[in-house]
Amino acid sequence: MANILAIGIATLDIINVVESYPTEDSELRALSQQQLRGGNATNTLTVLSQLGHHCSWGGILIDEPDSQIIKDDLAKSNIDISSCKQLASGKMPTSYITLNKKTGSRSIVHHRDCPEFSFLDFQKIKLDDVDWVHFEGRNIAETQLMLQHLKQHYPHLPCSLEIEKPRPDIEQLFELPDVLLFSQHYVESLGFNTASDFLTSLKHDKLIICAWGNQGAWALDLDKNIVHSSAFPPSQLIDTLGAGDTFNAGLIHSLVMDIEPQKALENACQLAGHKCGQYGFVNLTTHFKLQS
Ligand code: FRU
Repeated sequence: MANILAIGIATLDIINVVESYPTEDSELRALSQQQLRGGNATNTLTVLSQLGHHCSWGGILIDEPDSQIIKDDLAKSNIDISSCKQLASGKMPTSYITLNKKTGSRSIVHHRDCPEFSFLDFQKIKLDDVDWVHFEGRNIAETQLMLQHLKQHYPHLPCSLEIEKPRPDIEQLFELPDVLLFSQHYVESLGFNTASDFLTSLKHDKLIICAWGNQGAWALDLDKNIVHSSAFPPSQLIDTLGAGDTFNAGLIHSLVMDIEPQKALENACQLAGHKCGQYGFVNLTTHFKLQS
């Protein structure tokens, strides 16, 4: 199994499960409420840790009451936080999430007033034993410095970049990582209607992945072949929160295990589908076998 480092965020997720999505200016009673740790990078690490990898997270941890839930959950998942920057004051990013019981859809209102993990923080991490580094596509200027640092000083250390949301200048990062993981949301924001149209428009020489919800996922492999996996929806959609992060974990797991792109895509789609059939991430990979 591998040592995997992810750079990105942890959040406090306040999740209200509701019978159906509320109309504007209405009042609705939640069926249940849970406060959990969230955030793309740490969600991905949680799943990778269940798959047997040694995971560490580089991000911002603020010493405030809400961070205890986050720290406890990371500890339960055996995620090493020694590379984090710990701040004495401030507020952890918080997501207010409405989870529709009928459809499993999740609507997120995110509040953030927290510094980003910087290149200076990243430079303090010892990378000699790390087998894979995964980045959230955020904090563009600093992430660019981190990726350039890897390229210059650790050219054989593979790294992946998630591009989930359109952000100014994010395309400046695309040349640097070994693997690009695009979301449907990002690709559609560029005006593309299909993953394969988008993939064939790209000129980069690297593995490029594009998840596409209930149609599965597409990839452009190193020989410029388009590869596709269908989706594996559960019998009932329960909770889609973090499905994309789970997809990324399934994919990173497969690539770090040297599994070829077609099977890697299928693994990622199967794991993400499986996640949508249960609340949260607990015991996600128990009784679940990925291809090797
Ligand atoms: C899911 C998620 C949530 C978090 C939000 C941050 O992908 O990571 O856990 O609140 O997205 O954007």
